[in-house]
Amino acid sequence: MKILGVACSNRKDGNSYFLLKEMFKGISSIETKIVQVGELNIKPCELCFESCATKPFECVIKDDFHVLLDEMKSANGIIFACPFYFYVPSKFQSVLERISCLDYFTQKNHGEGHNPLAGKPCLLIVVSASGSSFNAFQILHHLQEFALMLHMKPITVNHWPFIGFSAKTGEMEKGAILKEKEVLKQAKELMPLLIRKMKKEIFTELSMY
Ligand SMILES: Cc1cc2nc3c(=O)[nH]c(=O)nc-3n(C[C@H](O)[C@H](O)[C@H](O)COP(=O)(O)O)c2cc1C
Repeated sequence: MKILGVACSNRKDGNSYFLLKEMFKGISSIETKIVQVGELNIKPCELCFESCATKPFECVIKDDFHVLLDEMKSANGIIFACPFYFYVPSKFQSVLERISCLDYFTQKNHGEGHNPLAGKPCLLIVVSASGSSFNAFQILHHLQEFALMLHMKPITVNHWPFIGFSAKTGEMEKGAILKEKEVLKQAKELMPLLIRKMKKEIFTELSMY
């Protein structure tokens, strides 16, 4: 089993990355991996109609988008840690555009049943300096819409804002979140929820055969 953490920030080693790193600490029975969008060269979607998804879920633009998509495909569960910038960070928005386009054209060209992300449990996390409700809802709704469109299974949490987790960093500097002990504790408490859901999905899949 593998959990992928996607640090959706435009910058490398930001608070989204540190949050994921803390969440993965002490998880030994399951493989964990973090991909930082800030380290990848990802171009925006070009809506290239004829060439999009000529093979299911295959994008023709040659860049590092494929690195991230391959990691997402091979993971059993995914955590999206997405900062609030002026809305979603631009590079990660390109990822969302391209995956949603691939989904649309794959269905159009090949029919249903080719979506490699369908059924994957995911945790949605917004990272912001203030932790304000305005920021949290904007980002979490956006991520939730994306996840549901892809037939992924976002995990709800039993405290506000319920559709995901809002991580307050306190300050904008890289690593500021490491001082927010209560935030880190709450985030770590989400790991068993994700792992349970992943195991359930695998069990359901196996029992189908
Ligand atoms: C363009 C931009 C706008 C931002 N606006 C807000 C904001 O309105 N409220 C807030 O709490 N934080 C805001 N932030 C701060 C980030 O959410 C915060 O620094 C977070 O740690 C960034 O994630 P990262 O460290 O993973 O890059 C903004 C950051 C950027 C770059």
